[in-house]
Amino acid sequence: MKEPNPTLIYLDNAATSWPKPPEVWAAMEACLKEASANPGRGSHAMAIRASRVLFEGRKSLAKLFHIANPNDIAFTMNATHALNMAIQGLLQPGDHVVSTTLEHNSIRRPLEALKRTRGIEVTYVATDAAGKLDPDRVEAAITPKTKLLAVSHGSNLLGSIAPISDLGALARRRGVKFLVDAAQTAGALPIDVEAMGIDLLAFPGHKGLMGPQGTGGLYIHPGIDLEPLMYGGTGSRSESPDQPTARPDRYEAGTPNTPGIAGLTAGVDFVRKETVEAIARKERKLTDLLVSGLSEIPGVSVLGPAPGEERTAVVSFTVEGVDPSETAFILDQQFQIAVRSGFHCTPLGHETAGTTETGAVRASPGYFNAESEIVSFIDAVREIRRAFHP
Ligand code: ALA
Repeated sequence: MKEPNPTLIYLDNAATSWPKPPEVWAAMEACLKEASANPGRGSHAMAIRASRVLFEGRKSLAKLFHIANPNDIAFTMNATHALNMAIQGLLQPGDHVVSTTLEHNSIRRPLEALKRTRGIEVTYVATDAAGKLDPDRVEAAITPKTKLLAVSHGSNLLGSIAPISDLGALARRRGVKFLVDAAQTAGALPIDVEAMGIDLLAFPGHKGLMGPQGTGGLYIHPGIDLEPLMYGGTGSRSESPDQPTARPDRYEAGTPNTPGIAGLTAGVDFVRKETVEAIARKERKLTDLLVSGLSEIPGVSVLGPAPGEERTAVVSFTVEGVDPSETAFILDQQFQIAVRSGFHCTPLGHETAGTTETGAVRASPGYFNAESEIVSFIDAVREIRRAFHP
């Protein structure tokens, strides 16, 4: 296999984190070699080793998110899959949902689909242009029919962080279930489902948890029974035509991605060893450098929270007179810098930020970036701007 370009500066961690810790590749290789039988479907030694891979993964995730019973975590393909399980499994005709204008399409599209197919109603509470969400506005949107509050912890466009603990407390007080999309924050910010009052937590494996693509999960509070998104074989109660009620089998029909989960577990163990706090500190330092450096370039507008304010490692911006896709293309071709550009699967988010016409360039540092790479990136953007405005 061709080695990755050693001069590549990878700033697309909000989409998929890269590189992965060597422990992740090693765990996947070991699983494929030694534990790749079918978990939960046989009593031979390798099938038991495969079941153990899943069990260890659930245990490590439970410790990370302060989940009392690891079996309340169902593995999924990604956060989108987990969000669909939560949204489609919970909502019934006539239910009302409160969400926000910053949601990714992975929350918005299932909600919009259920508006059409099940007659649910949705209120999207507006944030300010920098992505700040006011819990009082959320509370004002709750009606007697509201069953669910569905909110992204970190915006994938603006980097703003929702006040999850306040929202969890208000959801409890108002008797509303609380779904958190941790696509941008799992492994990057502390998450405690108990302390934050989270009933449903959807997370990807391939971003902050440093696992491979095709992994993720959903925490389901023991007091909530979701109708499964998929029915099928679980290796348990095979004589019954009904999906088992026992967890995690109820939500895990079909053969899982055992090698992927082995890699995810190694990623989660790595995060726990380094500590989320240390990861958050380093990413914050890189992000602050990025925001202040970009803000000093004439014609560059940085979206989201002001310099120095709290945010995740997501920095979207526009360069006056240069199309975002062109900026990203030049960064890739001339500077070997990987970023994402265009519309970031969040049309209401772009409306909020006033970038519906232009889209934006998004740079998202990760734990393995060096400060020197951020400096090179800022220099590259400055050069691009100068080339278009000599
Ligand atoms: N949701 C991911 C992103 O924002 C893929 O890039």
